[in-house]
Amino acid sequence: MGTTQRLDKILSNSGYGTRKEAGQLIRSGNVTVDGVTVKDRGMHVDPESSVIEVCGERLKYRKFIYLMMNKPQGVISATTDNRHETAVDILPDEYRGFNLFPAGRLDIDTEGLLLMTNDGQLAHDLLSPKRNVPKTYYALVRGVVTREDVERFREGVTLDDGYRTLPAELEIIRQGSDSEVELTIYEGKFHQVKRMFEAVGKKVKYLKRLRIGNLVLDENLEPGECRELTMEELDMLKASVFTPSDS
Ligand code: URA
Repeated sequence: MGTTQRLDKILSNSGYGTRKEAGQLIRSGNVTVDGVTVKDRGMHVDPESSVIEVCGERLKYRKFIYLMMNKPQGVISATTDNRHETAVDILPDEYRGFNLFPAGRLDIDTEGLLLMTNDGQLAHDLLSPKRNVPKTYYALVRGVVTREDVERFREGVTLDDGYRTLPAELEIIRQGSDSEVELTIYEGKFHQVKRMFEAVGKKVKYLKRLRIGNLVLDENLEPGECRELTMEELDMLKASVFTPSDS
């Protein structure tokens, strides 16, 4: 047994449009609860124990939705924007109306793993500076990334605003006039990866997020594509924010 919620909210969170649109469906007599037509959009119902039907079709109630998106360049990690396409704008139609939002930020020119969800608590936990959830990035960097840079990142570098970063793990994949690296950071300051490389005199030319905690970007997702997390992935992601004090 779950808890009760307003009927219009249940419909809205299940893909039946905005709260207003869901309210109209209810008022026009298209919704039944346990076989009885309900016209009161504010009626409290337990969606886990009651059978809700919309236009004769049983509502498949899911408390929360979790998608991994491979955010493309040129799209911003926001819900709405006047100038640019957002991660919400590029969601497949079937996920509209679930009030999904991006849990975290990637720059407009950064690609890669973005979690889209309507689970505010998990998003809050993942982003909390207290949790230090690791995030791993692949970066193409102009200039030769050296062992000295690895050491400096491990000790923490000072950003342009005087902030000293937490220790971070830098792995050199290919050294050259352009170097390929993977970097794991445990915080999420504005433009952090780019500013960390600037602090050691180098420029990030391309950036892609590969992992958030234990959640790994599916390599089969093209930029702009998304898919739901599997149960195992969701459990792994939740384990990334678990701390002994939670129990
Ligand atoms: N660090 C950056 O500089 N940009 C991002 O988008 C994410 C981390």
